[in-house]
Amino acid sequence: MARLGWILFLIMTLIASGLAYKFIIKGETEVAPDGRTSLLLKESERDFFLNEMRNFLVAVQQISEGIEKDNMNQLANAAKKVGSADLAHVPAGLMAKLPLAVKTMGLSTHKAFDQMAMDAEQLGDKGHALSQLNQILPTCTACHALYKVR
Ligand code: HEC
Repeated sequence: MARLGWILFLIMTLIASGLAYKFIIKGETEVAPDGRTSLLLKESERDFFLNEMRNFLVAVQQISEGIEKDNMNQLANAAKKVGSADLAHVPAGLMAKLPLAVKTMGLSTHKAFDQMAMDAEQLGDKGHALSQLNQILPTCTACHALYKVR
């Protein structure tokens, strides 16, 4: 009887870890022909995701210009727009489909923009902002090298 209990426990644990792997770590994905991992999204989710991405690029452009013109106000506003407040608008269904690594990189990118906005307002140091931007950009390129949407 005790042995049956352990076997059941083991089976439940395996199922639970399988589900955790599928839903939390792997997300809704498949391997793409180019070797990257495709995020399998429905059209509205893909539109939302790519729109967020274009907002990231707008922010990078505005931040870069803010640095060149030493306009910390413009820079802080641009960074704030893609800060973590933005996450409130992510549809729940989309969040659930994203692999853990994508959520982690996405979250850290939004948080890094929060920090940049805060520092720009408090320190007004464009050299610091530039080094923060240079810390954010490798996350953009790393995620693009690994993932695509479909
Ligand atoms: C967590 C992963 C991730 C991060 C971080 C990320 N991206 Fe993306 N981005 C993607 C994926 C996936 C695509 C779709 C690429 C594809 O299908 O080939 C994409 C597409 C884009 C596009 C194209 C949008 C379109 O309409 O086609 C732009 C522009 C972009 N990203 C900019 C950025 C910038 C700038 C950053 C950093 C500030 C960034 N991304 C950070 C995952 C990410």
